[in-house]
Amino acid sequence: MDKIMVEKSPPLKGKVRINGAKNSALPILAASLLGTEDIILEDVPKLKDVEIICEVLASLGAKVEFLDEGVIKINSADINKYQTPYDLMSKMRASFLVMGPLLTRIGKTKTSLPGGCAIGTRPIDLHLKGFRALGATIDVDHGNIGAYAEKLVGDRIYLDFPSVGATENIMMAAVMAEGETIIDNAAMEPEIVDLANFLNKLGADVKGAGTSSIKIKGVKKLGGATHSIIPDRIEAGTFMVAAAITKGDILIENVITSHIKPVIAKLREIGCEVYENEDKVRVIGPKKLKATDIKTLPYPGFPTDMQSQFMALMCVSEGTSVVIETVFENRFMHVDELKRMGADIKIDGRSAIIQGVDSLMAAPVKATDLRAGAALVLAGLVSDGITEIRDIYHIDRGYDRIEDKFIKLGAKIYRV
Ligand code: EPZ
Repeated sequence: MDKIMVEKSPPLKGKVRINGAKNSALPILAASLLGTEDIILEDVPKLKDVEIICEVLASLGAKVEFLDEGVIKINSADINKYQTPYDLMSKMRASFLVMGPLLTRIGKTKTSLPGGCAIGTRPIDLHLKGFRALGATIDVDHGNIGAYAEKLVGDRIYLDFPSVGATENIMMAAVMAEGETIIDNAAMEPEIVDLANFLNKLGADVKGAGTSSIKIKGVKKLGGATHSIIPDRIEAGTFMVAAAITKGDILIENVITSHIKPVIAKLREIGCEVYENEDKVRVIGPKKLKATDIKTLPYPGFPTDMQSQFMALMCVSEGTSVVIETVFENRFMHVDELKRMGADIKIDGRSAIIQGVDSLMAAPVKATDLRAGAALVLAGLVSDGITEIRDIYHIDRGYDRIEDKFIKLGAKIYRV
C-alpha cells in the first residue's frame, strides 16, 4: 500500500490552482443518467471517486468517454439496466446518488446499501422519505435496496435535516415526476446550486436551489448540455490552512470566495492576513497563531469538511480552542492520530478541546477519512521529523495527487 511521507517544511509559498469540486462532480455525473443527448462536463477533478461513479454509469449502459484533461462526455440515451454492481456501490456512498435519476428515468432501481467514509452511520432515511413521498415503493433485502414506481407524482417533502445527498437525490427524482415538488429545509450548499444549474441546462425546471426551499416542476424529457464544475471550496480551504499552519504566503486561484466565507473569517480570527477578489484568495500566515473556536454547521455555516484540517491548525495555535461537530456524530477519528503526533486534545461528546502546543512530533499515522488524511499532511508539515501517513487511498478519493500541489509550494512531501 502506498504511503505519503511528510517532513517538516519551510513556510509554503507560491500559487496553487484549485480543481473542480468533487462534491459537485459526483451528483452531476449521477444526474447525467437523466439526459438523452450528449453531455460534456468540464473541470471534472481526476479522483478515485469520479472513476468509480463513471464505472457505475457505464455499468448501467451509459456511454462514458474521457476526453482531454478534466473533460468527460456522457450519453445516457440507451441506459437499460437499473441494478448497480455491489462491488462499486460498496466502495463509495455517493454512488447512492444514482437512485433518484434511475427511479424517474426507468421507474426502478436496485442498489446496495451505501458504503463510504467511516464518519458515522450516515443513514439514508431522508432519501427514502423523499422517494416514498413521490410515490415509490421501497424494499430492502440482504443489504440491497430497491425502489419502484410506475410513475412519480410531485409532493411537498420536509427534510428533518438539511441533508446534501437527500436534497440532491430527491431533486433528481423530481425533475421528471408529474406536477410540482417542493423540498423544505433543503440543503443550501453551493454544490446543490451547481447541480440545479446543470439540471436546468438539461431542460429541467428547478427554482430556489441555494435556499432552504426548492421548487421542481416535472418535465417529460431531458436533453443534453455542456457544463463546467464549480471549484472545490474544500480543496481551496485546505490550501488556505496550509498557508496559515506553515506561516507561509499562498495565492489560491480558481476559487469562488463567497463559498469560503466561514474559512476566511476563521483564518482572520487566528491572525492570518487574507486578501480576496472574485476568483482568487491570498493567505499569509501570522508569526503566532491565536486559538479560536469553530462549530460545524450546514451551509452557510462552517463546513464539516474543513473541521479536521482546522483542528490540525488549532493544535499549534496558542491557547485553548473548541471544535463542535454538529453535522456528523463521529467525525473525530483524526483526533487519536493527531495525539500520536503530540497534540493535546480532549473529546467530550461532539466537542473537542484543543490546547495549543509549541510543536508537533512526526509519527506513523493513518488517514481515517479523506479530510482527516489532509489534516495529517498539514500537521506533518510542521512536525519535527518525517511523518508517515498510511491508508492514503482515502486522500486520493478527494484530492487529485495532493503531494504534487504541495511540492510546488515548497513542501517536503513524497509518496512511497
Ligand atoms: C455530503 O455527504 C458530502 N459528500 C460530504 O463530503 C459532506 O461532509 C456532507 O455532504 C455534509 O456537507 C458528497 O457530497 C459526495 P449529508 P452526505 O446527507 O450527502 C444525516 C467529503 O469529505 N443524514 O448532508 O452523505 C447524516 O447522518 C464528504 O467530501 C440523515 O440523518 O451528507 C449526517 O449526520 C464527507 N439521513 C448528516 O445528515 C439521511 O437520509 C449530513 O449528511 C441522510 C443524511
